[in-house]
Amino acid sequence: MPGCTKKAEPCKTNVPGLSSQGSKLASSLAVINCAQVVTLAGPARPRVGPEMRELSIVADGAMLVVGERINKVGSRETIEPLIDAECNVIDAGGRVLMPGFVDAHTHPVFAGMRTAEFEERSRGATYQEIAGRGGGIQATVRATRAATLDELVKAGNRYADWFLRTGTTTVEAKSGYGLTLEDELKILRAIKRLDEETALRYVPTFLGAHDIPGEYKSRREQYVSLIVDEILPRVTQEKLAEYCDVFCEEKVFTTDESWKILSAARCHGLGLRLHADQLSLSGGAKLAAELGTVTADHLEHTDAAGVAALRSAEVQPVLLPGSVYTLGSGRYPAAREMIDAGLAVVLATDFNPGSSPTPSMPMILSLASTHMKMTPAEGITASTINAAHTLNRAAQIGSLEPNKLADFVIHDCCDYRELAYFFGIEHTWSVYAAGQIAFSRF
Ligand code: NIG
Ligand code: FE
Repeated sequence: MPGCTKKAEPCKTNVPGLSSQGSKLASSLAVINCAQVVTLAGPARPRVGPEMRELSIVADGAMLVVGERINKVGSRETIEPLIDAECNVIDAGGRVLMPGFVDAHTHPVFAGMRTAEFEERSRGATYQEIAGRGGGIQATVRATRAATLDELVKAGNRYADWFLRTGTTTVEAKSGYGLTLEDELKILRAIKRLDEETALRYVPTFLGAHDIPGEYKSRREQYVSLIVDEILPRVTQEKLAEYCDVFCEEKVFTTDESWKILSAARCHGLGLRLHADQLSLSGGAKLAAELGTVTADHLEHTDAAGVAALRSAEVQPVLLPGSVYTLGSGRYPAAREMIDAGLAVVLATDFNPGSSPTPSMPMILSLASTHMKMTPAEGITASTINAAHTLNRAAQIGSLEPNKLADFVIHDCCDYRELAYFFGIEHTWSVYAAGQIAFSRF
C-alpha cells in the first residue's frame, strides 16, 4: 500500500503557514466513516453553469493522506483496506468531510475597531456619510499607521484563529489601510509573517489604491503617481504581493486612475483584481473586462451589459454578500443571472472592520442561498474550487483530489446543505492544513 506501510521517505515541509519542522518522515492519516466526502473533483478549470451544482460526493467515504498531501479519496471499501497499524485514523463519526474554504477576498490586517461607527449606523447614519467626514476606511488607516508590525501581527493572529475555526484554510489578504510606502510595506510584511507563523495560508494582494489618503485629497494625481512610481516597484521588488487591487468607485478611484494603476501592476507581473460597482454603477465591471482582470469583486450595481462584458472576458465575479448585509442596503449582486450566463462565480467574506466584519464562510453561504438564490451546492463550489482558481492555486487546493494539499475540514453534520441552512453556529468539528491539525473542537 503506498504511504501507510512505509515511513522512511523524508518529506520536506515547505508549505507556507506551517511552523517549519524541516524534513521529517512522511506520516499517514486516514479519515474514515464520513457520511459524505464532498470532493469537488472535476475538470481542471473554474466550474460554470450546472457544473457549479456538481460536488462529486462520495457517500460513506474516506480519505487517505500521506505527509502534507492527499493520497486517495473513495468509498469505505476502497480506502479502509489500505490502512495499516501505523496510520493515524480519524473516525469522522458519520460527519461531512470537505475541502477547507478558500476565501478569495479579505482585508485581514488592520488596527483598531469601528464599533462606534457600527453603533452610529445602527441609528441610521450611512457608510458613505461616515466616510465623507473622515471616518470609515480613513479611521482604520489612522489606527493602522500608528500600529507597529508586531501589533498588526498580534491582531491578525486573532483573526487567523477565527478563519480556521469556521473552516477556512486559505485567504486572499489585501493591504490598503496604510496608504504610504512604509505603512503599506508594513501591512504586507505582517501578512507574510502571518502566513509563516499561523496554519492559515495567505495569498497577498497590494491594495494601496483603497482610498485617497487625507493628505492627498487636493492632489490626488500625485497619490496615483506615488503608487505607480514608488510603492508598486518596492512591493514587487520585495515580492510582497501576488495581486494588485483598486477600489474603483465614485469619490474613490476613477476608472482612468484604476486603469493606470492596474496597467502598471501588470507590467510588474502582478495579477489583477478590482473592487467594482460596489456602491454605484461606476464602470468597474466594464473596466475589469477591458483589462482582463482575474476577478471583479462586489458587483452589487453591475448591469446586464457589465455581466455580459465579464462573461466575454472570462473575468470571475467575486460576490460579497457580507458587506450588503452589514451595510443594510439590501442590494445583493445578481448571482443567479451571473451563473445562468455562464460566469464562474466566487463567494468570499470581504472580512474587514467596516463593511463586513465576519470571517465566516458558512454565514456567506447562508446569505447566498437566502438572498441571492444560489443553491448550497453552488455556494460550496463558489467558496472552494472556483475561489482557488482566482488565486492561481487550483492545482494545490480547493478540492479533495490526489496530490493536492490536505487542507480539509470535518463538519459536524451529515449533509453538506446544513452549512447554509443552520446559521449563526460554528459547524466545524476539526480543521486540517497540509495534513496537520489546525483547529479541533474535541
Ligand atoms: O470591500 N470597498 C472597499 N473596501 C472594503 C471596505 C473597507 C472598510 O470599510 O474598511 C470593502 O467593502
Ligand atoms: Fe473589499
